[in-house]
Amino acid sequence: MSSKNIEKPWAGRFTAPTDRFVEEFTESVSYDQRLAHYDIMGSIAHVNMLGKVSIISKKESAQIIRGLKKIAKDIKNGNFKWLAALEDVHMNIETALVADIGDVGKKLHTGRSRNDQIATDIRLYCRDEIDLICKQIDAVLNALLTLADDHVGTIMPGFTHLQSAQPVTFGHHQLAWAEMLMRDRSRLHDCRKRLNLLPLGSAALAGTSYPIDRNMVAKELDFDGITQNSLDSVSDRDFAIELTASASVIMMHLSRFSEELVIWMSQASGFIDIGDAWCTGSSIMPQKKNPDIPELIRGKTGRVYGDLMALLTLMKAQPLAYNRDNQEDKESLFDAIDTVKMSLIAYAGLIPTITVNHETMYRAAASGFSTATDLADYLVVKGLTFRDAHEVVGKIVQFAIQHDKNLSEIILSELQQFSKLIKDDVYMILEVEGSVSARDHIGGTAPKQVKAAIKRLRKKINK
Ligand code: ARG
Repeated sequence: MSSKNIEKPWAGRFTAPTDRFVEEFTESVSYDQRLAHYDIMGSIAHVNMLGKVSIISKKESAQIIRGLKKIAKDIKNGNFKWLAALEDVHMNIETALVADIGDVGKKLHTGRSRNDQIATDIRLYCRDEIDLICKQIDAVLNALLTLADDHVGTIMPGFTHLQSAQPVTFGHHQLAWAEMLMRDRSRLHDCRKRLNLLPLGSAALAGTSYPIDRNMVAKELDFDGITQNSLDSVSDRDFAIELTASASVIMMHLSRFSEELVIWMSQASGFIDIGDAWCTGSSIMPQKKNPDIPELIRGKTGRVYGDLMALLTLMKAQPLAYNRDNQEDKESLFDAIDTVKMSLIAYAGLIPTITVNHETMYRAAASGFSTATDLADYLVVKGLTFRDAHEVVGKIVQFAIQHDKNLSEIILSELQQFSKLIKDDVYMILEVEGSVSARDHIGGTAPKQVKAAIKRLRKKINK
């Protein structure tokens, strides 16, 4: 429909119809229609309050609410015609309301502005999305804990600098990811607390002269309270930045996890396999089975960082109060949320298909002198200082390299050439199992500790 046929709610002071290009350039309904449900929720709470405090009559309020509910149904069933000429989700709904119930619909916008309306809509949307993302994090956590539980005693090389460092258990390694996701979840909870305040009532920027009851609206919409400054309320988007920053940290964690899966599934490593249903093939190389899901998640991480940068830059240097710049917050926010949700769904599905190649991992853990630190600690217990012990073991490693042996393959008399303190009880600690079991404290890799950590984490999730 052309702009000539559609009366814009703000058309009063204009003498010429909006240029077609301007309509296209300024519209946001093509993407903010996803906020319709929240927009109507906010409108119903607002109108309910207007009726209760007698700014409009109870009858009018009931009529408007009925009309809004019908529009909500139409939208849900796909029977609503969105018009770009009506700019955004707010004006589309308001215009449809007036068309439907007549002039009484024009009372909906009493004492509010699209500025506090959109601020309310986005907060409601973010709050729901946070709750969803937290549930999805829990699903990934459940999968990780199950995998960890299956592998409390499975030995793998632990790395620093991607060089074999000390043996750890595969279960312990999974719990590192679980800890990160637990922090991600608590970051989202923090963000939720800060954003769960009602901005409505701030109107365009200065508040409204009607005797509104903001607390009543806040209560109906399940907000914990109301915002305290109207100028801030209509222009603030730092809650969206915080949420996108939290999404970026989640993606950062998932990208690290992804990188490991890709490395571990490579032929060069061969530590794990991912189920066929969660991999894809090559159109030219018939033998290929590729870890595309982790790769895509690694790639999508950059995209979410981009969304965060876009939002930070959008808000940079904006004067008070509302500016149209703010309309540009939505696509980045939506994209970050959609991407993090898809990535979490992917991992909740993929993790249970991971199978572990015990032998390859064990062999890798036993090579690379991964128990050298244990040998140094052994010498410390026998009376050497750690620095001297470090030196002695360095020499033993050099000897092992020259003779192409693992530490546990060097015979006692050879070891004793480096230190008389070494006795035949040394072999227990040179084995990877001994090394792992010795790290028996909270946070350590001993199977007993991993089991206890899984129990602790299980109690914290799913609530
Ligand atoms: N579509 C706008 C946004 O997303 C709604 C607020 C518009 N306010 C205005 N005065 N033009 O920010």
